[in-house]
Amino acid sequence: MAEPNEPTSQKYSVQRFPAVADKNDSAGYNRCANWVQAVSHGFHQQRRDDEYLAKTLAAYQADGRELTGVYTNGPVPEHSLGADVPVATYATMRKALNIGFGRQLESNLVTAVTVRGTHRRQGILRGMITADLESAKDDGLAMAALTASEGSIYGRFGFGVATFERSIKVDTGPRFRMKGQPEGTVEVADPSVLMDLAPQVFERVQRLSPGSADRQEYYRLLAAGSIGQDGKPDTSVRCALHYDLSGALDGYVSYRFKGWDHKPYTMEIVDLVAATNAAYLDLWRFLGSIDLIEDVTWAEAPVDDPLAWALEDPRCIEASEIRDMLWLRILDVQAALQARHYASAGRLVLEVRDPLTLAAGTWVLESDGGTAVVSEAAGQSADLSMDVSDLASIYLGAVSPVTLTAAGRIQEKSAGAAFLAGQLFAVERPAHCLTHF
Ligand SMILES: CC(C)(COP(=O)(O)OP(=O)(O)OC[C@H]1O[C@@H](n2cnc3c(N)ncnc32)[C@H](O)[C@@H]1OP(=O)(O)O)[C@@H](O)C(=O)NCCC(=O)NCCS
Repeated sequence: MAEPNEPTSQKYSVQRFPAVADKNDSAGYNRCANWVQAVSHGFHQQRRDDEYLAKTLAAYQADGRELTGVYTNGPVPEHSLGADVPVATYATMRKALNIGFGRQLESNLVTAVTVRGTHRRQGILRGMITADLESAKDDGLAMAALTASEGSIYGRFGFGVATFERSIKVDTGPRFRMKGQPEGTVEVADPSVLMDLAPQVFERVQRLSPGSADRQEYYRLLAAGSIGQDGKPDTSVRCALHYDLSGALDGYVSYRFKGWDHKPYTMEIVDLVAATNAAYLDLWRFLGSIDLIEDVTWAEAPVDDPLAWALEDPRCIEASEIRDMLWLRILDVQAALQARHYASAGRLVLEVRDPLTLAAGTWVLESDGGTAVVSEAAGQSADLSMDVSDLASIYLGAVSPVTLTAAGRIQEKSAGAAFLAGQLFAVERPAHCLTHF
């Protein structure tokens, strides 16, 4: 990895290393432990104890995470954090992204981006992210992705919002009634079974859901109650499983009671993963039937939610905080466009600008209503002109090119081109990503 940009490179050095979970490798383990402590500091979380560090590093190793730390060169003042604690952190892992119609695109997932307050706004993030995106592209990846703490940071690096989520509170009192009938059964289980079962169910969701990013190890620990916010087992986590009519498992929900002091009495969804429409609705039937509970909350609900249409009274759902969720960064336009399936036929010339000059150019996209041929558009005038971040936003069909044209972000050079782009980039069901990273 390249050094961060001048003038910071004289002050800092960069180390990139794999996650080490083996305590016998004490140098490697301690370097990773310091790195995890720096991440916690950057996100204003508690100092981590040995148990948390061991569990987290084991999970990181299982994910194949690459950790980057930026360290101050030379001595640090007495009593301050040691030079072995990075002033900035950054991590990546390579996972599949469902880009519609079941197609999977290996992507560079970026996470754990922090810069210590005393070193901020000196170009450290810019140095880390520029070097990483270049190296991911050099490795042949066409896509990078992240989830963002703030909406104003990553557009300048070519990332665009590609999926959304929202928080919901569902009134499960007497007015909670769902249309239709159950198409399977729900049974309560010990959450520890999710250590094995959660990845199996999620694997089906990953194949079926546009916008889904394959999950890191942490999720099965979370769903099973094996790790809570503080790294200790979360014994309040409960779980229920959904079986289809043949008895096969096709969904689960893990959830926790918020306590008798919390009124109205509320059940909070920790993780809800359903591989079929029936499993999704039946799990909600179950959640709506839990005695003594007045509300069920979920912080990662889809914006376009079948639940609303399956309820007799859709106003049982109180939605708040529609948020950007998955941000994509196209590293190689030709490869990313070629990887997609196009349900409509059409031809578009796309001019793409890139603030980092990684992916700029003009391409012809010619779809026969299936696969597309994508080639460089030598001398042809563009139908649409846009920033690479806008192409990322329309890539999973969750943001309309017509809306981005109305916003002045996309320039439509030939009439109807934005509408055609909307048809071309449509996916088979609303894009939604259940994986935070
Ligand atoms: C966000 C953070 C990583 C930025 O690190 P940094 O080293 O200060 O950023 P840089 O100095 O490299 O800034 C690069 C550019 O981003 C801008 N920028 C950085 N942080 C920003 C923010 N929070 N909001 C808006 N712009 C921001 C800078 O102004 C700069 O712009 P320019 O190069 O176009 O002039 C750092 O402030 C941080 O750790 N924040 C808390 C944790 C966090 O939110 N991490 C992100 C997780 S997704």
